[in-house]
Amino acid sequence: MTRKLFVTTALPYANGPLHIGHVMEYIQADTWVRFQRMRGAEVHFVCADDAHGAPIMIAAEKAGLTPQAFVAQIAAGRKPYFDGFHIAFDHWHSTDAPENHALAQAIYRDLKAGDLIASRVVEQLFDPDKGMFLPDRFVKGECPRCGSADQYGDNCEVCGAVYAPTDLKNPRSTLSGATPVLRSSEHFFFKLSDPRCVAFLESWTQDGRLQPEVANKVKEWFVRDEHGKPLLGDWDISREAPYFGIEIPDAPGKYFYVWLDAPVGYLASLQARFAALGLDVNAYLADPAVEQIHFIGKDIVTFHTLFWPAMLKFSGRKTPDRVYVHGHLTVSGEKMSKSRGTGISPLRYLELGLNAEWLRYYICAKLTARVEDLDFNPEDFAARVNSDLVGKYINIASRSAGFISKRFGGVLSADLGVEGRMLLDALRAPADSIAELFDQREFAKALREVMALADRVNAYVDQHKPWELAKQPDAAAVLHDVCSTCIEAFRLLTLYLKPVLPALAAQVEAFLQIAPLQWADAQRALGAHAIGAYQHLMQRVDPAKLEALMPVPVEEAPPAHPGGEPIAPVIHIDDFAKVDLRVAKILKAEVVEGSTKLLRLTLDVGEAAPRNVFSGIAANYKPEELTGKLTVMVANLAPRKMKFGNSEGMVLAASHADEKAVPGVYVLEPWPGAVPGLRIR
Ligand code: MSP
Ligand code: ZN
Repeated sequence: MTRKLFVTTALPYANGPLHIGHVMEYIQADTWVRFQRMRGAEVHFVCADDAHGAPIMIAAEKAGLTPQAFVAQIAAGRKPYFDGFHIAFDHWHSTDAPENHALAQAIYRDLKAGDLIASRVVEQLFDPDKGMFLPDRFVKGECPRCGSADQYGDNCEVCGAVYAPTDLKNPRSTLSGATPVLRSSEHFFFKLSDPRCVAFLESWTQDGRLQPEVANKVKEWFVRDEHGKPLLGDWDISREAPYFGIEIPDAPGKYFYVWLDAPVGYLASLQARFAALGLDVNAYLADPAVEQIHFIGKDIVTFHTLFWPAMLKFSGRKTPDRVYVHGHLTVSGEKMSKSRGTGISPLRYLELGLNAEWLRYYICAKLTARVEDLDFNPEDFAARVNSDLVGKYINIASRSAGFISKRFGGVLSADLGVEGRMLLDALRAPADSIAELFDQREFAKALREVMALADRVNAYVDQHKPWELAKQPDAAAVLHDVCSTCIEAFRLLTLYLKPVLPALAAQVEAFLQIAPLQWADAQRALGAHAIGAYQHLMQRVDPAKLEALMPVPVEEAPPAHPGGEPIAPVIHIDDFAKVDLRVAKILKAEVVEGSTKLLRLTLDVGEAAPRNVFSGIAANYKPEELTGKLTVMVANLAPRKMKFGNSEGMVLAASHADEKAVPGVYVLEPWPGAVPGLRIR
């Protein structure tokens, strides 16, 4: 039966050019789609730009463009990537297109009619200068846990703490620098915690349609707390104006959160394609034979396995049949990051004249059905391409084709000899198992099998040595059989590689003068067929070009001392002995009127009367945090007269040399058991 496949890749944000990670996803999906088409499947392979959201709105503003003009400019730059890497989307759309507005609103209305939309008042940080609510990523401040400066509103990159933007100390808007204020507004929620949603999603995600590791991870959302409530909570789907997005019906000034309308873009893109073809998209989606398949990366699993299927199900629509999750591409073992200068530019790859199919092959040769990261390593890349594609595969044609044209008028032998026929049988036999591997997205395994077959063909060539047969006047028939066997083998290998190497396969089809290869052609034979003249099909990787492609690693600064200053000059023990350090108990800690920096500490150092010490730690400690604690003080420091009174010593605390850049002051505390008055030596 013909498979009917509706296939998508994740919609890239329309805020910048595509990177090599996007290209990797497209190569995986495109290879799979091409394979399915060779098997006779009917496929609609679509994608779109993900146009909406605050970051794009803000990027547009910075570029001095309307968001519409901004995303149009991004969209106009997409084609060279697809053409260059042979990625054959049937349609490319935009989530800002009218179809998507209409569809997202229709889905919302259906959810609302099903009583799955709630409204609640939410308090959020608001930028009073910009007049807008701030997404977490647009608030920065000091980490509430470790005090590190310049941390985003959702998590700390220094200590890994996860928090709400309202937890940040000294928060500021990255848009205006203003101090955000709390403001409340009405938000709409998709009631994912509704028992209907929970029951549906729990079974949908655990019924075997997802990769085991994905299903396992998603399972965490269904763990019940002591009240029997699953972790899965309601989903905030609304944002306040100004926002670049789709208006929420009957809620003026409110827009769908970008992740609500983004996956709807899959359907909008399909709908636009069907409209162009003059076909009925609703009839298509109602066809139970249609399989809806989304290729995505591991970072967006929740959206695709919880929110999206629930949106579809409870708006009365078809739910995805499969969500195929891949890991991320790393470059020379490093996560891609624009700021650190890693990652390789897909367009530069093409401009340098590096062959797009090398990359397709290299990526596919590493891809499995599991959620594993995949590394682009230049040495490995060159070795793999040179050895497999040029050394094993192309070599078969280049060692045999010349004889067919020069000696046999370009016509193949129909006989091939016993050994030739046996070899070709061995090449045809695994057609189904290789197909199975492609279908399962086990591309690495499939290509390993194909290369093992190529090894057998090369062993056959080495054994029969056509270049020696060619010198023997009476060996013409054998030479004809051997070279014809090689050409037939080359055709079969080309067929197996065609999903990965579509442009090369087209060249081979032209050279062999055959119709576009379909999977079923594996069981055919060329027979006494005339082929064209062989022209070299693929070069080896030019290491100089590959080097030019690789990002120049940012020069590492000499390791800075984490304390921000070098260790002080050496002193002797008697220098140290001059400093009388004592364990002190903080009897009282008080705010100092008129100072934001100082706390007044009353310290018991084991003397008749407590000491009074001013300490510049008010920004870091609340008085009540300190009261009753033990600490360490310099007990023989000359008293200092201060504006607020006499300071009779100094409490010890650790801090960075540049306290502005690396804030944080940490008061010392002795181990349990110490008592006031003990000397530190
Ligand atoms: N706009 C959302 C997706 C909406 S889908 C309804 C988004 N966009 S994205 O541009 O950040 O990512 C698009 C796809 O690229 C995602 O599937 C993501 O996982 C994938 N990749 C992003 N970085 C990647 C790598 N380094 N390697 C492989 N895929 C990567 O998320
Ligand atoms: Zn932190």
